[in-house]
Amino acid sequence: MFSFFKKKDTTSKHTGPVIPDFSFLGVDMHSHLVPAIDDGAQTMEDSIHFIENLYNLGFKKIITTPHIHGEMYDNDTNKVRRYFQPLKDYVAQHLPDMSIDVSAEYFLDTYFLGDVLPKGLMTFGKNQVLVEASMAGWNRQFNDIMFAVQANGYNPILAHPERYLYETDMKVFETLKGKGVSLQLNLLSILGYYGKSIKINAEKILQLGLYDYCGTDLHHERHLTQIKSIPEEHQDIMQLLNEYTFRNKDL
Ligand SMILES: [Fe+2]
Repeated sequence: MFSFFKKKDTTSKHTGPVIPDFSFLGVDMHSHLVPAIDDGAQTMEDSIHFIENLYNLGFKKIITTPHIHGEMYDNDTNKVRRYFQPLKDYVAQHLPDMSIDVSAEYFLDTYFLGDVLPKGLMTFGKNQVLVEASMAGWNRQFNDIMFAVQANGYNPILAHPERYLYETDMKVFETLKGKGVSLQLNLLSILGYYGKSIKINAEKILQLGLYDYCGTDLHHERHLTQIKSIPEEHQDIMQLLNEYTFRNKDL
């Protein structure tokens, strides 16, 4: 069924030591660390705790991405920037070796198309934006919305395609890539945190070489504990990730 996979030479053994942290990524471009704005960190103390832990895990740059999702959160650019500013000030003062910026994880629906996109999006890197699809099924207008994002000059990165379990044909993601949409893997997916099917999807997309970026999608302490367990307890996953070329450092 998946004969189009780029097969890896499974007989080859990793020769060098596996890098013991996520410094090979360097940049985390998907997290929910702006306090009290979505289902991520709820207090400044929590945010700072998460940032310090990410720093210790080898991330020296964070582009944090609160949800902008019409039905779920009353967020817009002004509010996100206002809530983010104290965090930016704290990091500048106390963690001079760390850089932090804010963008958003935009939920692609008709609200986004009508109310969010026309007002302008928060970008990072090369006019890039992180976007997510529904977990329940493709929006009927998904392709049109994605096209509108690109037609407005943005370069979309689709968050965690492996989590859209309704999509069993990985060629769909290949097609999206062909249309200029980048793809982002969640660390927690490849770990198996969201379940076996999502882990398998992540492995398939990784094998196909379709991912461009890898992010933590860190929301809370349980996520952090799991992410920290990867370098400590999952050498196989660290090796898999080490062998793949992610483009996080370009951001
Ligand atoms: Fe997210």
